Amino acid sequence: MRFIFFIFVIFTIQFECSRAYYEYFNMVQQWPVTLCMFRIKGCAVKALPNKFTIHGLWGTNVSAPYPKDCTNEILSPITYGKFLSQIQNEWPDIENGNDKGFVETEWLKHGTCSLNKFTQIEYLQLALDIKNSISLIDVLKNANIVPHKTATYDISDIVRAIKTSHPNEPTLMCKMDPNPRNVIPYLQEIRLCFEDNGITPRNCPGNTRIMCINKNSNNKVFFPA
Ligand SMILES: *[C@@H]1O[C@H](CO)[C@@H](O)[C@H](O)[C@H]1NC(C)=O
Repeated sequence: MRFIFFIFVIFTIQFECSRAYYEYFNMVQQWPVTLCMFRIKGCAVKALPNKFTIHGLWGTNVSAPYPKDCTNEILSPITYGKFLSQIQNEWPDIENGNDKGFVETEWLKHGTCSLNKFTQIEYLQLALDIKNSISLIDVLKNANIVPHKTATYDISDIVRAIKTSHPNEPTLMCKMDPNPRNVIPYLQEIRLCFEDNGITPRNCPGNTRIMCINKNSNNKVFFPA
C-alpha cells in the first residue's frame, strides 16, 4: 500500500512538472537598430543585421498573470547545437553577444510554458519556422517603408503592410528617446500572434501599441537606419 502511494506521489510530481498552460503564442521580433539606441554601452554586436531578429516566442495568456518560468527544464545543449547556425542568423543576442544564454533564458522564461504542446526541439523549430515564413523587412519594403535616419512613418501604414502577410492585428512596441523634446517613438518590435497550435494567426489581444503613441507624435514613428 505504501509502495502504491509512493508511485502515486512520483507520478503526481512528474505530472505537475510537465504541466504548463498558455492560451496563445506571441512571436516577438525586434529591429536591431532601435534595440541598440540610447544604450549607454551600445550593443555587443556591432555589424547589425539588416533584418528583424527573434526576441522570443512567448506562450502566454490574454490577461494577467502571464505565465512565465513554467518549469525548470533547462534547454539541452544537444537541442541548442542542432539549431546553432539558424539561431546565430535569426535569434542572435545583439545586446550582449551571448546567443546561447539568450536562447536558454527565453526557453526557461517562455518556452517552458508551452511544454504541454511543444517539446524543446519542436519549440525552437516553431520559432524559426514562423520567422522564416514572413520576412518583415521585405513586407515593409513592399509598402515603401524602409529604414531611414529621419523619415517618419504612419503606424497605420506599418500595420497595413504587416497585414498583407499576417492578416491579424499585430502588436507594435516602440522605444522613446530619453530626450523628451523628441516626441516621435522608434519602432523596436513587431509581435505577431497565433493560436496555441502556433500555426493559426489570431489578433494580438490587449494593448497593441506599446509606447508607440505619444502626445504630439501624430501616430508617427521612426524606423531608424
Ligand atoms: C494561463 O491560462 C491557462 C488557460 O486558461 C491557465 O490554465 C493558466 O493557469 C494561466 N496561467 C496563469 C499564470 O495564470
